Amino acid sequence: MKIEPVHVNQTQSYLWIDKVIIRHLIFSDLLQLEWNGEYKHLRQVYLNAYKNRNQGKNVLWVADLPQIGVIGQVFIQLNSVRKDLADGFFSAYLYAFRIKPEFRNAGLGSRIYQVVEKDLLKRNFREITLNVAKTNEPAIRLYQRIGFEIVGSEPGEWSFRDHENKLQNVVEPAWKMVKSISL
Ligand SMILES: CC(C)(COP(=O)(O)OP(=O)(O)OC[C@H]1O[C@@H](n2cnc3c(N)ncnc32)[C@H](O)[C@@H]1OP(=O)(O)O)[C@@H](O)C(=O)NCCC(=O)NCCS
Repeated sequence: MKIEPVHVNQTQSYLWIDKVIIRHLIFSDLLQLEWNGEYKHLRQVYLNAYKNRNQGKNVLWVADLPQIGVIGQVFIQLNSVRKDLADGFFSAYLYAFRIKPEFRNAGLGSRIYQVVEKDLLKRNFREITLNVAKTNEPAIRLYQRIGFEIVGSEPGEWSFRDHENKLQNVVEPAWKMVKSISL
């Protein structure tokens, strides 16, 4: 089978995007989320998200480009200890949203978001929440364009165990954003 080149610069048509399949993450995708090592420090975070998915607490999405692999992801937490972010029935929390750099600015992030929103509506959720680093202008622009509003400020402090089981502390001041969703 002929493998078509992936066209990703601004002057070429975005043929590849029509081939992208947005689907639920499966176990064998986990290694691909590490992006050849760049995100290996998040191995345990991803594995825990996968375990929570198996308990129905999360919905994990990936964008899969056949013959290339996983090129994007977004995780949804349906229930959290932070009930203002995800309470299991009304509010769901969107996080770990990431598209590989060479596939950005072609509409894939917006497309994945549409799939997520439709799925949450089917599950009867009526609000999506997220935290975005205050310095992350491209993401804030995307979220505002798709209807999110800034509703507050978050210290953005969290910890995780990395791939060597070392505790890593993150401080990334963030905006809390919310979008009401309806049929
Ligand atoms: C934020 C992120 C997920 C957005 O993904 P994306 O696929 O680039 O999103 P889109 O392509 O839908 O939108 C991005 C831009 O491309 C533009 N665009 C969309 N389709 C286009 C097309 N066919 N041609 C040209 N531009 C296009 C959009 O208008 C948007 O422009 P803007 O930045 O001026 O608003 C991505 O930038 C990313 O992975 N960033 C790093 C991780 C991150 O910050 N995640 C968010 C954490 S909260």
